[in-house]
Amino acid sequence: MRSNEAPPSQANLAWDVLLEVDDDGRGPLHSRLRRSLLTAIRAGRLAPGTALSPSRKLATDLGCSRWVVTEAYAQLIAEGYLAGRAGSGTRVSWADRPVSTVLVPPTSALRTPRFDLTPGLPDLRAFPRQQWASTIRVEVQRVAFTDLAYQAPGGHPRLRRTLADYLQRVRGAAAGADDLTVCTGITDGIMQVCRALAAAGITAVAVEDPVWRRLGRAAASAGVTPVSLPVDQHGLRAADLAANPDVRAVIVAPAHQFPTGVVLEPGRRAALLEWARRVDGVILEDDYDAEFCYDRRPVATVQGMDPSRVVLLGSVSKTLSPALAIGWIVAPPRWTAALRASSAPTAGPPTLDQLAFATFIDTGSLDRHLRSCRSRYRNRRDALVQAIRAELPECRLSGIAAGLHVLLSLPDGVDAAAVTAEAASRGVRVANLDRYRVLPVPAEPGLVLGYGNLADHAVGEAVRALARAVERVRAGSTSTGRVVAAAPQPATGLPLVHRYRHRPLAHMSGGARDPAPRAPLGPGPRVPPT
Ligand SMILES: Cc1ncc(COP(=O)(O)O)c(C=O)c1O
Repeated sequence: MRSNEAPPSQANLAWDVLLEVDDDGRGPLHSRLRRSLLTAIRAGRLAPGTALSPSRKLATDLGCSRWVVTEAYAQLIAEGYLAGRAGSGTRVSWADRPVSTVLVPPTSALRTPRFDLTPGLPDLRAFPRQQWASTIRVEVQRVAFTDLAYQAPGGHPRLRRTLADYLQRVRGAAAGADDLTVCTGITDGIMQVCRALAAAGITAVAVEDPVWRRLGRAAASAGVTPVSLPVDQHGLRAADLAANPDVRAVIVAPAHQFPTGVVLEPGRRAALLEWARRVDGVILEDDYDAEFCYDRRPVATVQGMDPSRVVLLGSVSKTLSPALAIGWIVAPPRWTAALRASSAPTAGPPTLDQLAFATFIDTGSLDRHLRSCRSRYRNRRDALVQAIRAELPECRLSGIAAGLHVLLSLPDGVDAAAVTAEAASRGVRVANLDRYRVLPVPAEPGLVLGYGNLADHAVGEAVRALARAVERVRAGSTSTGRVVAAAPQPATGLPLVHRYRHRPLAHMSGGARDPAPRAPLGPGPRVPPT
C-alpha cells in the first residue's frame, strides 16, 4: 500500500544513508541509484517522512553528476515513493501501511489506571531535576578528558570512594573504595554476583518467600537455582537453611523485607551469619529502601556485622529514580576480584552519571533530597493509613513503619484476585499479595499497596474506590461478572515465559502438611512486574 500522507518535518533528515549502488553495469547509473534508494525505502532504512540528501550533496558523495541524482529522485517521485515539496526537500512518502495522522496512544497508555498503587516506585514527580541537571552540567565541564575513555572495571574511583564513605555513615556498612563495585542496580548486582557464585561452584541460592520475584529470576538467569525459604513475622526463617545442603547463598532484605515489611530480628541475623560461616556461604543483602523509616530507627546492615560473609547491594531506584540505573555492590575481596575480572568495560552506568552522583552525595544534595522525601512519604503514608482505617475498618494493615508500601490483609474469604480485578475495573491498580508468593502454603488474602508514586491528592479517592471494590467482592458479585468463589488464584501477573518455579526446600514441600495448597502459579490479569 502506498501513502502520500507522510507528515513533513524538518527533523528526520537522512543525509547519510547506506546506499549500495550496483556497479554491475546493469543499466544506466540513475537507474541503479533509483534501485538502491528503493531498496533502502522498502527495507525501512528510509522511513516515511525522511528527508533525503539534497541532490547536489548526494552527487558529490557518490562522485556522479547532479543530473543522475535528480533523475533518480524524479523517477521515484513519479512512482509515488518520494515527494518533492518546495522548502521541505525530497522526502520519503511510501509506507507499507497507511500513515495515520490520528495519534494512537500506545497500549500501555490505554491501560494506565487512574490510581496506580502497585509498589516499586519512588515519587517520580519529586525527582530533583534542577539539582541533577546542574550537577551533570558541572561534571561535563570539569571531567578530565581521560575519564571520557572506557570505564575502569568496578566503576569510577571517585564514586567508589564517596559511596563507601556514604554507606559507612548512613548504613553502618564496613566498606572501602576497593570493596565497592558500581553496577546498574540491585537486580544487575545480583546477576553479577550469582554469575561469580556459579563459576565458584555454588549452585543454589535461597530466596525469601514472599519476594520480589525478579531477584530469583536474576539468580536463575545467572545459572544459580533459586530455592524458596519462608518469611514469618521475625523475617527469614534462617534455621530452615540447614535443610538444603546445596544452598550456600541467600538473598535477604534484612532492613525491610519485601513485601511483608518485617525487619530481620537480631537472633535471626546472628543465625544467618553463623550458617554462612559454617557452610562457607554468602549472604546477598538486598538493601533496597532502607533510607525510609518513619516510626522506627533505621536498621544497620548485616554486612557491617561481618563484611567477610555478606555482599551488600543497593541502588538509587527508590531514593532518586530507577531511570538513573545506578547501583552498588560491596563485596568481600574474593568476590570483588571475581566481579572485576568478569565485568565488561562498559558494564556500569555512564561515567558522567557516576561522577554526578558522587558530587550529589558529596555536596549534601542527596541527604537534603532524602530528608524532604521522608517527610513527604510519612505524610502520605499517614493519609493512606487514615483513609484505609476509615473506609476499610475490617482490613488489617501491616508493614507501615517504613518503606514505600503497606500490606493490607483482606477479611477471611474475600478473594484477593477478585478484588484486584474489581479495583482495576474502577481505575485502581493494586498488587495481589499472591503475586509475590511462591510456596504453596495457605495464607490469608492480601494486597500490597505502594504509595511512593501516588499523588497526595489522590489518596482519599483511590482508597474509596478500593473500598467499593472490596465491598462488591464481599457481596458476592463483581462488575466484571466473575463468581468470586471460582476466581483463579493466585495471579502472578507475570508472562508465562518469565515464570520459573522455585524448588521448595525438601521439608517445606507442602503436600501432606498443607491441607489446602494454593496453586502457586496460575492465570490472572497481566500486570506489569514491579
Ligand atoms: C525487594 C526489592 N529489591 C530490589 C529492588 C530494586 O532493584 P533495582 O535496583 O534493580 O531497581 C526492588 C524494586 O522494586 C525490590 O522491590
